[in-house]
Amino acid sequence: MKLVVFLLSFVQLAFSYNFLVFCPLFGHSHTTYFAKIADTLTDAGHNVTFFTPTIMRRFSKHAYLKSTKNVIHLEPSEKLAILGDKFEAGDTSQFWVSDSTLLKALPVMDTFTRAFEEQTAVLGRNLELLDKLKAMKFDAMIFESFVIPAYALLDYLEIPTILPATSIAYDEILARSIGEPIMTSAVPALSSAFTDQMTFVQRIVNTMSSHLKSLIMPKREFKSLRFPHSTIEISSQGSMSSFVFTNSNPYLDYARPTIEKNVQIGGISVDVDQLKSQKVNEDWGEILNLRTKTMLISFGSIMLSKDMPLENRIALVSTMDKFPEVTFIWKYESNDTDEFAKGVKNIHFSNWIPQTALLADSRLSAFFTHAGLGSTNEVSYLGKPAILCPIFADQMRNAKMLARHNGSVEISKYELGQSEKLEEVFKKILYDQSYTTASENLALQLANQPVKPRELLVRHAEFAARFGRLPSLDPYSRQMSFVSYFLIDVAATLFLISSLILYMVFKIARKPINYLFITPVKSKTN
Ligand SMILES: *[C@@H]1O[C@H](CO)[C@@H](O)[C@H](O)[C@H]1NC(C)=O
Ligand SMILES: *[C@@H]1O[C@H](CO)[C@@H](O)[C@H](O)[C@H]1NC(C)=O
Ligand SMILES: *[C@@H]1O[C@H](CO)[C@@H](O)[C@H](O)[C@H]1NC(C)=O
Repeated sequence: MKLVVFLLSFVQLAFSYNFLVFCPLFGHSHTTYFAKIADTLTDAGHNVTFFTPTIMRRFSKHAYLKSTKNVIHLEPSEKLAILGDKFEAGDTSQFWVSDSTLLKALPVMDTFTRAFEEQTAVLGRNLELLDKLKAMKFDAMIFESFVIPAYALLDYLEIPTILPATSIAYDEILARSIGEPIMTSAVPALSSAFTDQMTFVQRIVNTMSSHLKSLIMPKREFKSLRFPHSTIEISSQGSMSSFVFTNSNPYLDYARPTIEKNVQIGGISVDVDQLKSQKVNEDWGEILNLRTKTMLISFGSIMLSKDMPLENRIALVSTMDKFPEVTFIWKYESNDTDEFAKGVKNIHFSNWIPQTALLADSRLSAFFTHAGLGSTNEVSYLGKPAILCPIFADQMRNAKMLARHNGSVEISKYELGQSEKLEEVFKKILYDQSYTTASENLALQLANQPVKPRELLVRHAEFAARFGRLPSLDPYSRQMSFVSYFLIDVAATLFLISSLILYMVFKIARKPINYLFITPVKSKTN
């Protein structure tokens, strides 16, 4: 049956389009997302070129693509490579014990801005390559919306159709640029730690953080690679996108108003069928067979467990020791485990773990995660109950978003040193069946979405490649002023008119009222 559907999808395909996916290498989850987009379009029969200039050399050896074969690399300049190293040197270990505030994000954003400027300069020094790309006459280009060099490239290659995408779940700046309503009253901002039910103060903070973000993001302008190299502002280009592909999923994220232009393909990177068919190797199989229950613990590739405060590691280990019938697999990046876990038999430490394969295995009972978007999507699609311990950035929002579905519990990073608290959440997630039921229900819903993320991407990309810019999808509200958008002028006018009418009615009716009610009363008392 699947094969027939697969073959039919080829029959339906009238044209093969020529797509350019532009993906500078500066982050793992970002590249995973764009590689998946490229492969999905390739698998649908299109001609996809993946242009991936290196910013961080660490990622250049990693194989992100499967079926896409046209790959163009570009070496970084000395300056760009140094900026790339700076990303890596950025000390995130402090976030185990402190909050990531806007102030702390500033230097990171400054590095981003400078890296993007240098990336644009590197493109400018490789015009021969760009001319070759231009000759390929792409129908459309897909790129991360905040990657500024992409706009210089678009401008130089004169690609008619613009398809920005984002590897994060919710980007207010992108939303604003396409005229999507930003409802800060009930939709948590990306960096927000609130749910959709906010108090008055939380709504103030949520509104502020949604707007302040645009101040710290890289300046949205670029220097044209064409003579006379004028500076072009990007806000004027945002609306020209045909669609934007966001890494959010309506069955997982908060319900909110959106527009047709926003195509939500969240979860496209999680290929459930493939993951379920691929088995973990024998060594891992043996570990999973050791006890009746197994919990996987990982804080991702940026927050390292080895940097966690020692008292937290001790508290975690002593909690695990209280569950002798459970095997704990802990992604741990150092060999100093004897310092805090000597003699505890049910913990398996490993520098590297096959995370998705383990999550897809029926023998795994639960997942202890930092709630990065990649892990959040994976655990949702693979239906495992989870303990969510967000550390920084969008992880706070992801955790709240997933916990809403009742298949997971959240624990604060500041509670990691409290064994009683840990024991309580471990008990819940391992032995309260309601969490397993809820997480399996969510996975079932995601598996049966009316339209799969993969199909949404392919159909919309084809439509855009065929019809180009789609002005009919550009809401006029995008150009309206604050006062007219929120009907403040209308409300003020209506208020004035109604006050005036009330006043006049009162004035005119005063005499008869006096006569009818007040006078007789007076006369009676007299
Ligand atoms: C795909 O694009 C490349 C580069 O433009 C071109 O050489 C190749 O012929 C194209 N293939 C198809 C099937 O269109
Ligand atoms: C631990 O790791 C360090 C650095 O990789 C290495 O030098 C050391 O020999 C290792 N110690 C043990 C006991 O494996
Ligand atoms: C989660 O549980 C609460 C309380 O029982 C319920 O109101 C809510 O609808 C549940 N949410 C989902 C997504 O099932």
